[in-house]
Amino acid sequence: MEITGKTALVTGANRGLGRHLARELRDRGAVVYAAARNPASVDLPGVTPIALDVTDPDSVAAAAAQTENVAILINNAGSSTGTSLLTGDLANVRLELDTHFFGTLEVIRAFAPQLAAQGQSAVLNILSALSWISFPGSGAYCAAKSAEWSLTNALRQELAPQGTRVSALHVGYMDTDMTRNITAPKSDPAAIAKIGLDGIAAGDAEIIADEVSGQVLAGLSSGVAGLYPQLA
Ligand SMILES: NC(=O)c1ccc[n+]([C@@H]2O[C@H](COP(=O)([O-])OP(=O)(O)OC[C@H]3O[C@@H](n4cnc5c(N)ncnc54)[C@H](OP(=O)(O)O)[C@@H]3O)[C@@H](O)[C@H]2O)c1
Repeated sequence: MEITGKTALVTGANRGLGRHLARELRDRGAVVYAAARNPASVDLPGVTPIALDVTDPDSVAAAAAQTENVAILINNAGSSTGTSLLTGDLANVRLELDTHFFGTLEVIRAFAPQLAAQGQSAVLNILSALSWISFPGSGAYCAAKSAEWSLTNALRQELAPQGTRVSALHVGYMDTDMTRNITAPKSDPAAIAKIGLDGIAAGDAEIIADEVSGQVLAGLSSGVAGLYPQLA
């Protein structure tokens, strides 16, 4: 898919990976709506800030109504509360699902008609290696990312007939605010943004953006014994 000249919208575009995606789209010649809960926090020149809280249906509907010709939709907005499913606050569990699952779903549903009108269009959902493997300390986030992966696979089939290709990007840790307390090796989000857009351009259904994600994907075929050897 050609990116130059297309109109794109990125959620959570004010910081982190979303800001890199918006900048990279701009630099590749796209017209960019940089969506953020607080549009005043968008500091990138050459993009159009727009208000969008993915957990607020009225905000999602308003964003869809205020935009036109969106041919590339990137669902990037994300929360990470570090919540255990067993002992954590249920409000945080709901927040993770509201953001990653219901938020992404609501945005795709709202923009599907605009995407359909472009003839050829793309959705990129920013997923994670944690869509495929769970850690107890962040079980809520992992469950939400798994649900978002499932949503991605259902909607890629439903949107194909209207000419919308749906891609999923899987990545391990990136160096953003979300992982500021994690000391493990992290990818550069600027590099991940480039990989994501190359994937859209190539029409890839699944974009494996780093080695960790590739390893976890390979481990899926060995089931629980492969993914959670400590339980053996
Ligand atoms: N960092 C990692 O290691 C990593 C790894 C794999 C996948 N991911 C995924 O990558 C994506 C981007 O994460 P990041 O690392 O860039 O995180 P980040 O730096 O914490 O940025 C999160 C972004 O999401 C926005 N956001 C949160 N809730 C929102 C809502 N309800 N509506 C609209 N925007 C909302 C934030 O906006 P505010 O400024 O308003 O809070 C911010 O722009 C997420 O989907 C995340 O799950 C991250």
